[in-house]
Amino acid sequence: MKQEINPGSPSCLNLEIQAITYAGSRDFVHIYLDPPRWEYMAGQFVMIRPDGWVNDPIWPRPFSICEKTDDSLRLFVQVVGRGTSLISQLQPGNSIDLWGPLGNGFVFDPQDRLLILAGGMGIAPFVGLCKKHPHPEQISFLFGHRMDIESYPLAEFPPEIDSEHLKQETTADIQGFQGVLKTRIQNFSGRGMILACGPTPFLKVVQQYSLEFEANTLISLENKMACGVGACLGCVAQTTSGDYVQTCTRGPVFRADEVVLDEQLLNQKAYRK
Ligand SMILES: Cc1cc2nc3c(=O)[nH]c(=O)nc-3n(C[C@H](O)[C@H](O)[C@H](O)COP(=O)(O)OP(=O)(O)OC[C@H]3O[C@@H](n4cnc5c(N)ncnc54)[C@H](O)[C@@H]3O)c2cc1C
Ligand code: FES
Repeated sequence: MKQEINPGSPSCLNLEIQAITYAGSRDFVHIYLDPPRWEYMAGQFVMIRPDGWVNDPIWPRPFSICEKTDDSLRLFVQVVGRGTSLISQLQPGNSIDLWGPLGNGFVFDPQDRLLILAGGMGIAPFVGLCKKHPHPEQISFLFGHRMDIESYPLAEFPPEIDSEHLKQETTADIQGFQGVLKTRIQNFSGRGMILACGPTPFLKVVQQYSLEFEANTLISLENKMACGVGACLGCVAQTTSGDYVQTCTRGPVFRADEVVLDEQLLNQKAYRK
């Protein structure tokens, strides 16, 4: 049984913020919005633009759907620049325009074993997935992070999930984490599906070892996006067949052997011709 594809079309809604909470520091923000009627697949995202953004910033910002319950839609946002700083200052009762659900999401069989690899804010799309998964004991979760673990919602994950988190503060930590990724991917290859989300350097490592060990891996890209609906071409990624595709509509989730993150891997035989 595959994860159900979202039956609805994306819509544009104006939603009220119910609550905002901070985790660890004010740079990590959980935003709870009135729940839209649609369902979503983990890995899909929304574009949001708070009321009051007239000409500055102009463009909406993309965020993974962190979790949706009957009561709320939740986003998990790290402050990295002007847009996210303004978003972090919103208050309950403020409203935002929200387009979604957008993109394709992770397609997997809930009966299969999952190895989930997340780097930093790449944890966001996996919160709802892990909390709702019918067989959490089938999930192994490896999380690499730079800030204190309290900044991230790992403690919410069901206890049946075999989870490990590694903090990276030094170059040696990063190299150590890469070694752990290699071992985990090598040992898991052929035993289930790997899902990965995080910054591009992290995804390059996941892709490299997934190709080397012929693992069945899906990676979610975080290319910069302006429109989110395929119109501006600001988010394109190169596929291994040489095409350029919009990550907002053809992704953000791709097979690890489908997109070029590292030119040096292009000759690797595991890339599809
Ligand atoms: C599909 C998708 C899902 C995402 N999900 C989340 C999420 O759940 N939580 C979250 O906090 N962030 C997420 N992001 C990243 C988020 O959209 C950016 O951090 C945000 O748009 C930055 O806006 P800003 O105005 O604060 O930053 P800007 O002022 O525009 O830029 C500040 C810094 O952030 C970098 N930056 C900008 N956009 C991105 C990006 N897309 N990826 C990486 N770095 C970027 C810039 O290079 C610059 O260094 C996601 C991005 C995509 C494409
Ligand atoms: S963000 Fe505009 S085409 Fe993808």
